[in-house]
This record gives sequence, C-alpha cells and structure tokens, in this order.
Amino acid sequence: MNFNDSWKFYNAEANGAEQVNFNDSKWRSLNLPHDWAIEGPFDIKYNARSGGLPFHGIGWYRKSFKMDKAAKGKIVRIEFEGAMYDAYVWVNGQLVGNRPNGYIGFEFDITKFLKYDGSNNIIAVRLKPQDMSSRWYPGAGIYRSVWLKIDEPIHVKQWGSYITTPTVTKEKATIQNETTVENKTNTAVTVKVKQEYFSPEGKSVAIVDEDLKIEPNSKAISALYTVIKNPQRWDTKTPHLYNAVTTILQNGKELDSYKTRFGLRTIAFTKDGFFLNNEKVRFNGVCLHHDNGALGSAVYKRADERKLQIMKDMGTNAIRTSHNPPSREFLDLCDELGLLVLDESFDMWKMAKVENGYSVFFDQWAERDIKDMLYRDRNHPSIIMWSTGNEILEQGDKKNGWRVAKMLNDYCKEVDRTRPTTLGMNYYSNPYDNNFAQQVDIAGANYKPSNYEEIRRNYPELPFYGSETSSCTSSRGVYHLPIEKYDTHSSKHVSSYDLIGPPWAYPPDIEFHFQEKNPFVMGEFIWTGFDYLGEPTPYGGKDNSTNGQWNSDWPSRSSYFGAVDLAGFPKDRFFLYQSHWTTKPMIHLLPHWNWEGMEGKEIPVYCYTNVDEVELFINGKSKGRKVKGKDLTEIKIDFFRYEPKTFKSKYRLSWNVPYEPGTLKVVGYKEGKKVNEEVITTSGKPAKISLSVDRSKIDADGQDLAYVTIKILDKNGNFCPLADNLVTFDVKGAGEIVGVDNGSQISLESFQGKQRKAFNGMCLVILKSSKKSGIMTLKASSKSLKSAQIVIETK
Ligand code: GAL
Repeated sequence: MNFNDSWKFYNAEANGAEQVNFNDSKWRSLNLPHDWAIEGPFDIKYNARSGGLPFHGIGWYRKSFKMDKAAKGKIVRIEFEGAMYDAYVWVNGQLVGNRPNGYIGFEFDITKFLKYDGSNNIIAVRLKPQDMSSRWYPGAGIYRSVWLKIDEPIHVKQWGSYITTPTVTKEKATIQNETTVENKTNTAVTVKVKQEYFSPEGKSVAIVDEDLKIEPNSKAISALYTVIKNPQRWDTKTPHLYNAVTTILQNGKELDSYKTRFGLRTIAFTKDGFFLNNEKVRFNGVCLHHDNGALGSAVYKRADERKLQIMKDMGTNAIRTSHNPPSREFLDLCDELGLLVLDESFDMWKMAKVENGYSVFFDQWAERDIKDMLYRDRNHPSIIMWSTGNEILEQGDKKNGWRVAKMLNDYCKEVDRTRPTTLGMNYYSNPYDNNFAQQVDIAGANYKPSNYEEIRRNYPELPFYGSETSSCTSSRGVYHLPIEKYDTHSSKHVSSYDLIGPPWAYPPDIEFHFQEKNPFVMGEFIWTGFDYLGEPTPYGGKDNSTNGQWNSDWPSRSSYFGAVDLAGFPKDRFFLYQSHWTTKPMIHLLPHWNWEGMEGKEIPVYCYTNVDEVELFINGKSKGRKVKGKDLTEIKIDFFRYEPKTFKSKYRLSWNVPYEPGTLKVVGYKEGKKVNEEVITTSGKPAKISLSVDRSKIDADGQDLAYVTIKILDKNGNFCPLADNLVTFDVKGAGEIVGVDNGSQISLESFQGKQRKAFNGMCLVILKSSKKSGIMTLKASSKSLKSAQIVIETK
C-alpha cells in the first residue's frame, strides 16, 4: 500500500510529537515525497556549499491511519525508501527504530505496535539533517516513497529475491533465482515456492517450483534455476526486461506473490576493457548527484527520466551515482533506458571530509548500509559495478586504509557474486602503493589522464577507468572576452568557452586525448552531467575536502560543473561531448552574436561537430573551411598534472571573426555533401516570449511533470541571448507550478515562485498534473513583452 498521502509536517523541534495524543492540527498537511529545504528561502546561514537552502534543522512528520480488522494476525511493515536524515520512527508513541543514512531505504516490523480495533494509529518520524554533514545539497525530509506492507506471516523477505544469469548467449539463458522466505510463525512449515518468468512482452516463458522447509521464526532460501531459449538480451540499445513472479503456497493457498524485474546480459571486465554481451563498450559516462534542481531531492520519476534522456541525447551510456545510492525510480529508469550504472555507496568512511558527515556513523552502520544497497539493487541489469567509495581519505593511510577497503569489498562479495567492485581514487600514487587500490576489482582514477600510461606500466593486469574526469566549469550563455584562464570572475559566473576549472580540472579535450592514446582505459565519467545544488566551485570555497561553509562568494550557491545547467538547458559543453560521443551528424556554434560595442574586434568562434568538414560564413562571406581532426585549436591548460601549458585540440574548430552584427552561419559536410548547419543571428531588443513544452500530454496522476522552456525573442523571432526579463506565470486547470528556474548559479529567487527572471534569454517552469484529467493552460507574461500561452493535456 502506497503510504505517501496525507501526512502532517512541522519544521522544528516539537517535544512529545511522537505521542498519540499530541495535537498536530496546526501542522501543515502534505503528500510525500517531500523535500522541505527546496522551499527555501536561500540564506547564507545554510551554507553555499550545500546550496544555501534550509536543509539542516529538525523536521517532524505524522500520519494517522486505521488498520483493517482483517490485518490482525498478519505481519505489518513500514518501508521508507529514503528519509534525509537520521530518522527516528515511532508508532503509537513507541520507538520502532532509527536509521541515520538518508540514502538507504529501511523497513520496520510494526505488527506489535498497531491497534486493529478501528481506532487511529499514529506514526511519527523525526529527522535531523545536520549542518556540515554533506559536501553538496542533500535535501531534507521524507523525500522518497513510503509503503505499508501487510503480509501473511510467511512471506518473501524485503529485497528477498536474487536473480542471476550464469549463462546468457543468443541461443539460451540460465536464470538462477535465490529467494529468501521468512516464517514468522512458531511452527516449522513447508511451503511451495513457484517461480514464473515473463518475457518483455508479458508472455509466460517458464515455471519452476520446489518445496521449502522453514524452521519456526526463521528464514530459508529457495534456489531454483531454469533455462530459456532465444532470450531477448538486455543491452544499451535494446534494454529488454523480464519479470519473475514468485508465489509462496501452503497447501495450495497463496501466501505471497512477489515480483522482480531483471534482464539477461553478461558483463565482463578485462585489462583491455568492459564487455557487455561479449561486445566491448566504452563508458561515455557522467557523474550525477541526486537533486533535480528546482524540485530538490524529492523523487519525481519524470524529473529523473528527463534528466537521463538529456544525458542520452549527449551520447551518455553510463551513469555514476555520485556519491550515494540513488532512488529506486532512478535505477528502474536506467534499466528501461539502457544506461549502465556504477552504484556508489559512500563519500567518506571513518576519516571525515565534513565534521558531521557519514564518518560519525561509519563504525556502527557501514556494513548494514552497504549490504542493504546491494540487497536492494542487485537485480537491476543496468548496474555493472559497486563502488565502495569516492575519494576516500583512507587512501593515504598506509596502515589501515586497505583494511577498511577490504572489509567493504568483502561485504559486497557476500551479497553479490556477479559484479566487480571499484573505488574512485583521487590520489596518485598512494592508493596503489598502499595496497588500497588492490582491494577492489577495478580501479577508478579521478582526474588522472596523464597517469594512465604509467598506471598500466606499473599494474599491467589492473582494469581501470576514469571514475571522475574533467571538472570543467561554465555558466550557460556566458562568454568572457578576451579568452583567458582565470580562477574566478567578478560576475561570479564562468565563461562557456569550456576552458576553465579548478587546479585539478582540465578541459574535456585532455581526457579525450589520453583515452584515445590508452584504449585499454574503459572510458570516463565526467564531473558532471548536470549542474547540482551546492559546491559552487570556483566560488566560495577552496577545495573538495576543506571544511567550511563556502560562503565567501555568496550568492554563488550551486555548481558550474554540469554539461547541462540546473534547469536542464544544455551548455556548450553538452555539444562538445555530443560531438565526441555520437555519430548522427550534429553541429554547434559558440558564442552568441550580440557584441554591441565590439564592432571590428575579433571574437573567437568555436564549432563543436562530428562531421568531416565545416565552413563558416559571416553575413554570407566565407571565413574558410576547416577539417575536423586536422585543423587544431590551441587552448590554454593549467592542469597541474599536465605540461606544457597549452594543448592543440582536434576536438574543436575555431576562427577569430571581426565582429559585425548580422548572421553567423556554419555549414557541415560529410563526404563532401552538406549535412547540417547552424545559424546565430544578432538579435534586436526583447519583444516577445516563446514557450515550448517537452511533452504536451502527461498523466493525470498527481506526479507527472511538464517542463516548459521560456525563450525571449526579438520582434523578428530571433533569440535574445542576453535577455534577463522577469517573466510571470499563471496556470489554470488540471495542474500547478511546482518549480521555476533559469540555470543561474547565483540567483536567490525562489524555486517555488510564480515568476522568474530569464538568465541569458531563458527560464523554465515545471508543471505538475493533478489527479483529475483535463487541460492545463500556462500563460507567461512580462512587462513590455508580448505574452504567450501553452496548453497541456492531462489524462
Ligand atoms: C572531486 C569529488 C567530487 C567533486 C569534484 C569537483 O574531487 O569527488 O565530489 O567535489 O571533485 O571537481
């Protein structure tokens, strides 16, 4: 039973709120998932480092509910998929449990605390996210779904199925299913465990069963295998998914039915690369934090789907869930979209990166937390590796670092035999010298392209990949001239010529170069696919492991690392990756062409493309052709692990064009034939608003979202790349506004407002359906601009 609706919420300490008779009538009513921090307001006291939003403090949730009489004698469990964080849960005034880690789901058996006589039961949850507990925006609240599970005393355990596929070929697949069944009665029982498998089309393809004896108050594992012919394999292009339905029967009576989705595929890692179904696949990967910008960390499946679709458009085939287990929905989507996943557990172990971080809980909880991550996630075909940590400070601890690494690795092996383990390591060469890197199957190197050759030379058998790469920074649509390599800029933005980053960072080109030179490296995971809340490097703070609030460049409050901004609008870098990771002809030109006052001065123009050859025109006059791979662009590098300080990049084409207003056009050719073009026109004054929506029909389920992009245009319909008009929104009908954004890292406007300033010509409104079918009309208006309207149907 989904348990998300009709909760009461209070955002402060409330003494006695766990008690049944506590009066919560003045508390706010809401439905979950909920992130209280995203509601703002932004305030420096909450620290730019974690987004400047009120995520620390105390939050209470209460819900009153009645149990059906028929539930008496059954087992009742409450499952939280994630509560941020340090959750304490009471039922009818009695403490049922605590779970500190906000990224891990947990359940409690509440059978004995409940009343089944028709009177109210009260569940109360207290959360206490702490200041200085995270290096990014964690969110706050019961931000994932809650379930009430009512079962017979004999049932499949939480995350009780484990499906592996020891053989998968074109001709046949072996499905091995180990299902843990719990017997919470005082007598020994023998049940029948039936496993039925369904093809991606929903056709029953196999049934097997066996008798299983379970001792009183204990559990037992049923292990069955079956072979199916002509399997439809899961891969990145055709992510076919099968279902297993487990039925538990006693004397012919059905006690439980449990569904597990899985995929048929093989994975292999050798020193030469990663192989999916025996074919080599390189990781064109991105690291992603869990927040969804204006929606915060509350789970909306559509928000994650849009995010992953945008990443796929860029050519991404792999995701690193930095630096924590993601939501169930996120992993389901990766299964459905054919994205490979590196599922990561921790950002710190015992040695703290921030004083109230996970290290406080590590000794008591690490084993449980990492095992639960694997129990929950091990049936997802998308997951190909388990990461036991990111940039763990124990890398440098010669004596004990490797011991902790080994311990966590052993825990993983206990729960899953089928996937390798890895760690993202940012030190070189300590972890390799300290027997630390050797404790996992595969080494992840953060920001070490210039060491790839040496790692291979010294550790010839070690499979490895770039677990974090580039960390280039930029603000969408911002171009600072002349091009220079600065640390920070007075605008608190970063130029989008894709050259600037902190000292450990380097432009994407450098990684491309070293990956090509060392084809045994399995690929890369860029930092990051999307901008995220918090960690506004290069503003406010020093480096990634320094304590502190990062407030010195307020209002800089969110990251500049994304190839896509916080609103989901691609930055130029998106196209640089697309040009390298995809083959369907694409072409992209930068910067904008509105340089009033710069007439006659040279403007650097870059083109990112995957075609053979391009020709640039300014107001119809050719500036000549350039050949991809042959004509180079010299870029400045000050990556501290790279000499010389300049790089001739074959990944970008460039010209210096004396500015004259008008039209800049680039034409792309493949095998001599024109295949595409891109035109940028100098715009006049902002005159009107244009609206476009990602999907004009959405589900009327109270959760589905429509993302409306607002662009400011001049009277001739040209995009105004510098416009910052304030746009006001009004929505009528079957939905509401749940978020607004414009991608600017320094805006303190509310994400929950009904208006937003455009940032470099664009802003975003996120609309949510209600539970009634109908029509939703969004009107966008702004002083002195022609307004616009868009209609969305909900069904
Ligand atoms: C890495 C770290 C990431 C992020 C990144 C920024 O060192 O693992 O979490 O801080 O730096 O460049």
